Amino acid sequence: MSTDIKPLIQMKNIEKHFGRVIALAGVSVDIFPGECHCLLGDNGAGKSTFIKTMSGVHKPTHGEILFDGVPMQFADPRDAITAGIATVHQHLAMIPLMSVSRNFFMGNEPQKSFGPFKVFDHAHANEVTMTEMRKMGINLRGPDQAVGTLSGGERQTVAIARAVHFGAKVLILDEPTSALGVRQTANVLATIDKVRKQGVAVVFITHNVRHAMAVGDRFTVLNRGKTLGTATRGEVSPEELQDLMAGGQELATLEGSLGGTV
Ligand SMILES: Nc1ncnc2c1ncn2[C@@H]1O[C@H](COP(=O)(O)OP(=O)(O)OP(=O)(O)O)[C@@H](O)[C@H]1O
Ligand SMILES: [Mg+2]
Repeated sequence: MSTDIKPLIQMKNIEKHFGRVIALAGVSVDIFPGECHCLLGDNGAGKSTFIKTMSGVHKPTHGEILFDGVPMQFADPRDAITAGIATVHQHLAMIPLMSVSRNFFMGNEPQKSFGPFKVFDHAHANEVTMTEMRKMGINLRGPDQAVGTLSGGERQTVAIARAVHFGAKVLILDEPTSALGVRQTANVLATIDKVRKQGVAVVFITHNVRHAMAVGDRFTVLNRGKTLGTATRGEVSPEELQDLMAGGQELATLEGSLGGTV
């Protein structure tokens, strides 16, 4: 990574406690514009807690978050979205019976004046939706096509395109590929690649080392709320990532007891 690029987000020594549960025990990660930063870890490792802290859902118990070099404290997720941090969840907020175009503009409806009234500007919304989806490699039958008729991967792509169109600088994807088949996964990974090339920082959470390896520039593995640091592409093998996720020690013990390679 070239040194003249400054991080968009700096998470410094973040701790998050829920009562006696220590979900994050001091995690530091920098997120750069234009990178796909993969956050890997087993169930309960703290991945969701970490990105929720980054996106204003949780306040850290300790630690500091800098956005564009300035310390920030988001009061709630709305604040984070306004600053340009968007999260796309696996279970998307979309209405299947409504058109792609309506879903694309949900909450951001373009309006035109009609006498004293404001009305939804269908023509403009349709045009933008078709263009943005085409850029992502999806040719809709038409803007009126219902979201429910799209595949899971295409729906993820609508959600990603929508976030980027409305100004996301950091796009957080929490397990976008975990429920998808091979071809659908490939579509979503291709979308991530396009978005990253536009300069958006992508934080990609996954359990799947192969998915991470396919698009990741850098990799941070969480294990029980801790990380050993961030590895750059080429510095780390899939086997090493898998090992870090499982916790090297435990995997070695398991290997020993099975008398072979796991
Ligand atoms: N709101 C909460 N209250 C109490 N404990 C919580 C809360 N949220 C998370 N935890 C705990 O913090 C730890 C980390 O959870 P988190 O959801 O961040 O893991 P994850 O890496 O996202 O796991 P998964 O892969 O299953 O989604 C777990 O032990 C979890 O039970
Ligand atoms: Mg999670």
